[in-house]
Parts: sequence; structure tokens; C-alpha cells
Amino acid sequence: MPVSRNTPVIAPSILSADFARLGEEITDVVAAGADWIHFDVMDNHYVPNLTIGPLVCEAIRPVTKAPIDVHLMVEPVDSLIPMFAKAGADIVTFHCEASRHIDRTLQLIASHGMKAGLVFNPATPLAYLEDVLDKIDLILLMSVNPGFGGQSFIEATLGKIARARAVLDRHYEETGHSIRLEVDGGIKVENIARVARAGADSFVAGSAVFGRKSPEGYREVIGRMREQIARA
Ligand code: DX5
Ligand code: ZN
Repeated sequence: MPVSRNTPVIAPSILSADFARLGEEITDVVAAGADWIHFDVMDNHYVPNLTIGPLVCEAIRPVTKAPIDVHLMVEPVDSLIPMFAKAGADIVTFHCEASRHIDRTLQLIASHGMKAGLVFNPATPLAYLEDVLDKIDLILLMSVNPGFGGQSFIEATLGKIARARAVLDRHYEETGHSIRLEVDGGIKVENIARVARAGADSFVAGSAVFGRKSPEGYREVIGRMREQIARA
């Protein structure tokens, strides 16, 4: 077992929730066992889709105590960070290509008291990680190209997870600083064990959870995902 493995986190993405009943959906999914709420922000510029922003984050903040994990698929990044801090976000992640100054953006997130994370698209090299490990609380590896829920898991991500895990373990051995490894896109009950075995400790799932469309369904799928992770 790698040394820096954290307790597993399941983070349902509200991208696949019923937006007409968003508050209820969040209450239900947390009651069903979700650890974090994954909040996908898209700008129709960095990615070809348009979703939600700080206003919606602020609206859902009183609904749950669960950490809100804001995944920024926007460009530029920096101006939104104070707005999400004010809206009650706990974690902010952004894509390597979307910030001109990655180190500065990471510092900006930390200076607002939030956890900071760097996101890697399927084709983005892990090299971006090397010089900012000390400023990162988590990394997010995309297992689909960002922009839409319900896409198929890209199998090549498994090897990349293992490579990232090795980098994070080495960093932990050298410094004692533990960094989470989150994976996002196409995660289902059927493949989550392989994702965990490769080295992930935090799992985003949108359509697999909210596609069930009922509190009982959410509980069942999250429970089965936990069993799979425990077995891995
Ligand atoms: C994709 C988003 C994901 C997406 C995951 O750009 O970042 O968080 O909602 O949805 P599924 O689990 O359906 O692939
Ligand atoms: Zn996401």
C-alpha cells in the first residue's frame, strides 16, 4: 500500500443533478453517503459548454456542511477565485493550460483559505506538477476530455494515475506532505476498483450517481462504489 494513501472520498458531480431541485438533490446525495459535492464550472471558452458560477455556489452553501469541490473549467482563472471564496467554496481546482501563472494561481487560492488543486486533461503531461508540489493539496486527473457529463472513461488514464501516485508517494516520503489524487470522468461501479487500485483516493462520479434519480438509488450506488474501493 503506498504510503500517502488518504481515506477514500466520493464526490458526486452535480452536473448530472436535477437543477430544478438542486438543494434537495444535494441534501439527498450527502444523506446517501457522498463526502464532497463536486461543482463543475464551465465557461464556453476553455470548454465548449456553459454551467454554473459563484452565485449557485453561494445558494447551495447553506444546504450542506459537505466540502464544495469547485472544478474550474474556465479561462482566465484568477478573477473567479475571490468570488468562490466568498461563495463558501472549500476546494478550488483549475486546469494547467487555463492559467498563465500556475504558481501564482495556487498561491491565490491558498491566500483565500481554500484547498488548491491542479487539473490535468488526458493529454496534459504530469511535468506541470514537479515544481509546485509544495503548493498543492490535490491533483485532479481527467479521465475524459472536460466539458460534458456522461462520457466514457479513457483507459489510458490508469497508467497516468499510477505515475502520478508514484510522484505523490515520493513527495510524501521526502516531505511528509500528503496530496490527494482525484479522478474525474466516466467513473462507475464497474471501473472504480481499477481506478482505486491504480492509486486514486478521491472519485468524482456524475451520471453514475445522479442517473439513478432517487435517494435510494444514490445510496445504493455510493455504497457499491465504497465496497469496490475497499476491495481494491
Ligand atoms: C466533465 C466534468 C465531470 C463530469 C463527470 O467535464 O468535469 O465532473 O460531470 O460526469 P460523469 O461521471 O458522468 O463522467
Ligand atoms: Zn469535474
